[in-house]
This record gives sequence, structure tokens and C-alpha cells, in this order.
Amino acid sequence: MNRKEFLKGGLLLGGAGLIRPDEAFAASTDGALPDKLVDANGQFALNPLPYNETFLEPYMDAETLHLHHQFHHGGAAKAANKDIQQIQKAVAEGNFETVDYWTKKLSYHFSSHLLHTIFWTNLTNKKSEPTGELLKKIGQQFGSYDKLKGYIAATAKNIDGNGWGVLAYQPYADTLTVIQCENHEKLQQWGAIPILVIDVWEHAYYLKYKNKRQDFVDTLFNIINWDNVADRLNIARKK
Ligand SMILES: [Fe+2]
Repeated sequence: MNRKEFLKGGLLLGGAGLIRPDEAFAASTDGALPDKLVDANGQFALNPLPYNETFLEPYMDAETLHLHHQFHHGGAAKAANKDIQQIQKAVAEGNFETVDYWTKKLSYHFSSHLLHTIFWTNLTNKKSEPTGELLKKIGQQFGSYDKLKGYIAATAKNIDGNGWGVLAYQPYADTLTVIQCENHEKLQQWGAIPILVIDVWEHAYYLKYKNKRQDFVDTLFNIINWDNVADRLNIARKK
């Protein structure tokens, strides 16, 4: 099957094989955090998207999704492997002159791999809203879903340069928390487990939205998979 045929097909390739789009997430959240970042050899590896590349249109176009997943996300996974190799080599040789450089790079690339992996599952092709325990927690902490939406949208839109708006569960305080992450790793909170991430790097929107990051963030609320976010909260609270 070539790429064009793949895009036309209704099937998608998930970790467990060919599954239908509406089964994509249900198949992957069985009590454990669903994110698999490494392959059988323990190497960081890019998993297939949990849906085909046209699944999020018109909100996220197939070309952006393809480039974003294959090259930006895929590149980060590859680079994280290189970072680890360089650290291992330096440590084995007892040469510590470059370890600070590679350690910073690993933090950057690993965080990119993790956040992108979560990001794909946070999206779907239909509008939803938080329900159940998630909605209750949002109400307790932020007043209402609309208030949280305003908060996280403003946080994501106003990131200096590239970064992510993140809704996370903070197990040390049993609270939800919003993080304005710069690049992939800066300004995070120790211990916080991301449950909803919004990528505002230019590569996430520039082909379709040009310089209108605000429009992109507002539009994303049409395709956030709040069931996925709720599942992630439930799993994180059990940890
Ligand atoms: Fe990205």
C-alpha cells in the first residue's frame, strides 16, 4: 500500500495492528499509561499515528500531520537515541567534557518524543467535552470547563517562541495544574504527569494557519479527545 492508498483507506495502523479510528484509543488504555516510547530493544522509536493522516481534517491537514509526525516527532526519537549513546560513550571513556551538552539534548529530545506521543492521542475527529471525575476536578479547581479552557488557551497562545500548553496531574498535591512549557522541557514541574498537551511549535500549524497561532489553538478545541484526557487522569491518580 503506498502512502496515497493509505491516506484514502479508512483503516489505521495502531500498535496492535489495523484498527478502526473509533477503537484507536479504547485499544490502548487498559489500566496502564498507554504511551510506548521504546521498541523491543529498548530503543526510542516512533509509533504509527493512532489514525490515518486525513483523520483530523479540516482542523489539522494531512500534510502538516505527516511532516509533523514523521520528521519532527520522528527526528526527536532518533536524536534521543544518539544522545544516550553519546552519554554512554563519554561515561565509558571517563571523558566528562561533553556530558552536560548531551544531557541537555536528551532532556530536550526525550521530552519532545513523550509530548508528541501524548499529543496524537489527545486528538480525535469529533468535538467532546470533559465529563465524570475529570469535569468534577476541573470544576473544583478552575470553576468550570470554560474557565479552564480560557486558562490553558491563553497559556498556550502566549508562549514565548516554541513550546507547549500542558494540563497535568500533580500527584504530590493531588491537583490538576497548567504548565507553560518552553521548547519541550523548560518550566515544567517535577512530578507532574501530562494529560493534555497542546503543541504550539510553528511546525504544528504554519502550513495551514500561517502566523495565526491563536486561531490554531482555538480550533484545536474542536478535536480534543476529552475521553483520552479523562482516562489519563484516572490512570495518573492510581499511580
Ligand atoms: Fe511538534
